[in-house]
Amino acid sequence: MSPTDGLSVFVTRRLPGEAIARLAQACAVAVWPEETPPAPAELRARAAGADGLLCMLTDRVDGALLDACPRLRVVSNLAVGYDNVDLAACAARGIPVGNTPDVLTDATADLTLALILAAARRLPEGIAAVRDGAWGPWRLDWLLGLELRGASLAIVGMGRIGRAVGDRARAFGMDVIGVGREGGRASLHAAVARADLVSLHCPLTPETRGLIDAEALAAMKPGAILVNTARGGIVDQVALAEALRSGRLAAAALDVTDPEPLSPDDPLLAAPNLIVLPHLGSATTLTRARMADLAVSNVLAGIAREPLPHQVLAPPSAGTAPDTDRG
Ligand code: GLV
Ligand code: GLV
Repeated sequence: MSPTDGLSVFVTRRLPGEAIARLAQACAVAVWPEETPPAPAELRARAAGADGLLCMLTDRVDGALLDACPRLRVVSNLAVGYDNVDLAACAARGIPVGNTPDVLTDATADLTLALILAAARRLPEGIAAVRDGAWGPWRLDWLLGLELRGASLAIVGMGRIGRAVGDRARAFGMDVIGVGREGGRASLHAAVARADLVSLHCPLTPETRGLIDAEALAAMKPGAILVNTARGGIVDQVALAEALRSGRLAAAALDVTDPEPLSPDDPLLAAPNLIVLPHLGSATTLTRARMADLAVSNVLAGIAREPLPHQVLAPPSAGTAPDTDRG
């Protein structure tokens, strides 16, 4: 008899690969069958009798949900970011929270470089020109972009993903300026003032919400490029749209927005020189399978009351995230 016999886990989405099968060998499993996340009331109802919850970044895990799930021993978030989980509410109930760092670092850093290259070399404009019949005879001065060698990149949040982006950027010959929390907004503003590109890799916390606001954007070099593969809430999107419209920024490339999904008629999308991707940072076949695997390992350890392979540290004070940099 294994320590997890008779226990059950609710999984809020179908998982890739063998992850569910592995889970089902150890305990009872119920899986939300839809492509869209369960509404909060539905999540409460489905998770109510579960010993473990394996959830996505689209699921809000708060005190109300935890109160509806008296048996819950663990929350396993299939993501490195965990701003969807109320860590203090979990800690108050003695429920450990797991996340999936490391396995998605390379995929997310790769996507960041894809956005840097796409924005710096103006790929969307070129692609559109070909399709729109605007491709005339070769021209010496058409769609000129930013050369990466010698350009400076400010990386806000030098955790795993930020450092992996730094390695790639240095391979392209870029000068990397790492920006941490120390020094606060003044040092952030000083760093972005020196950078041709700014890339965000910090978690979304009360401290970083709206970090890139009108003031931070105004501190950026005229003609600079902003890239965000962390969390949408770090950027003030109204201020960003204005900075693009005024030409203060040359371009922005976002893999994350607030809200997600972004409505096709969101005013942000009317801004020029803007690339928006639908949150694809970790979207490779291999990485998603590894994330699912790690989330299963976390939930299995949690229901067995063993240490999680990757446990999010309880916050020193409610809502601040201590150890990871990907919101
Ligand atoms: C994705 O955004 C993640 O946090 O894993
Ligand atoms: C977390 O620190 C990450 O960047 O993966």
